[in-house]
Amino acid sequence: MNVLLIGSGGREHALAWKISQSPRLEKFFAIPGSPGIKNFAECVENISIEDNAALVNFAKEKNINLVVVGPEAPLVNGLVDVLNAQNIKVFGPTKDAAQIEGSKIFAKRLMKKYNIPTADFEVFDNPDAAKNYIRKKNTPIVIKADGLAAGKGVIVAQTLDEALNAVDDMKTFGAAGNKIVVEEFMDGEEASVLALTDGEKILPLIAAQDHKRALDGDKGLNTGGMGAYAPAPIVNAEIAALVEEKILKPTIAALKAEGIIYRGCLYAGLMIVNGEPKVVEFNCRFGDPETQVVLPLMESDLLELMDNCAAGTLSDKKISWSKNSAVCVILASGGYPKSYKKNLPIDGVTKAKSLGALVFHAGTKISGDELLTSGGRVLGVTIIAPTLREAVDKVYRCVDVIHFDDMHYRHDIAAKAMRNI
Ligand code: AMP
Ligand code: GLY
Repeated sequence: MNVLLIGSGGREHALAWKISQSPRLEKFFAIPGSPGIKNFAECVENISIEDNAALVNFAKEKNINLVVVGPEAPLVNGLVDVLNAQNIKVFGPTKDAAQIEGSKIFAKRLMKKYNIPTADFEVFDNPDAAKNYIRKKNTPIVIKADGLAAGKGVIVAQTLDEALNAVDDMKTFGAAGNKIVVEEFMDGEEASVLALTDGEKILPLIAAQDHKRALDGDKGLNTGGMGAYAPAPIVNAEIAALVEEKILKPTIAALKAEGIIYRGCLYAGLMIVNGEPKVVEFNCRFGDPETQVVLPLMESDLLELMDNCAAGTLSDKKISWSKNSAVCVILASGGYPKSYKKNLPIDGVTKAKSLGALVFHAGTKISGDELLTSGGRVLGVTIIAPTLREAVDKVYRCVDVIHFDDMHYRHDIAAKAMRNI
């Protein structure tokens, strides 16, 4: 198969690494790709991932058999629809289906209509009405912009003042903040369950846990994710069954009842509240950095599974998993998720790999023969080991050999799980 991967982050590097192991793979391209993805695929940097027409032309020209879309923006932008219209197979949901991430209101209303467990909510397009409602409610309370806001459109307000200010802050998200959702606060532990689906059959992946806050102890600002591990013991067999029966299956069925066939990866961001999983959010794609710990534990051929999702032929498939654990620590630029410096030289990647780490590039670039930082999240260092504890010990030994100025990372990735074990 000739494959085209869209994207450039750590998630896409992990996808490229896993796809490249498939015996089915023939030619492999990535748009735009990254210094990490270059090891597996020919990277084409002069086509924008927002330019649907140019992407379709490229796929035709290169006889691509499967397009794999990494990030949410091209999915919400209808890339899958234009590829499908040209009979090019693609792993990822259509524009209508991607609303499950692209519009919080769409997702919340779907869940309410079909009794899928989530926080109670109200929708407002008038800030004063939202504020009046909030004054009648208890804190903490959660304020969300409707549209995509690069992971920043959610404010968990601890006090009434914070909540009222949050309503005003929604204006800073442009069109995404024209409508807002005010939501009940759910008190529990978060976990991510991703699933592959062809719109009928659902294959949940092993559960992972992300670490969204910038600083140790879940302090500081929300980020794209500072590290992850899998499997996440909080999602035990009983909770995993509830997630499948009460959340994943009903959601795919609800979309179908609304006339939408969802194909690709459905990401359920969950809050486990007193042993009951509830949906915090859905994403229409793989998680980042969850992918960097889930795929290294997958023994099955991911490319084959993605092809089955795209073709609607997942029904008799299974996924086999290694018994190991995986941990990924994100190395970020100092200052992230606020402003940070770029173009700082990175040392030690080769050394970390020689110690057994998978090093996924999230925001790097090559200049001459030097590797430089070029994003907020720079690298993801993943270790696979027989136990979570061994994986954690080893991952931090590998992190220790990597250096760039102002490098920042969390020291407590997977600490919660180790307390539970
Ligand atoms: P989201 O972008 O919807 O995943 O929200 C970002 C983060 O805000 C989540 O990972 C949670 O930590 C937190 N959050 C969102 N909604 C709620 C809620 N209803 N209750 C508690 N925390 C929430
Ligand atoms: N790790 C959070 C996300 O991918 O949205």
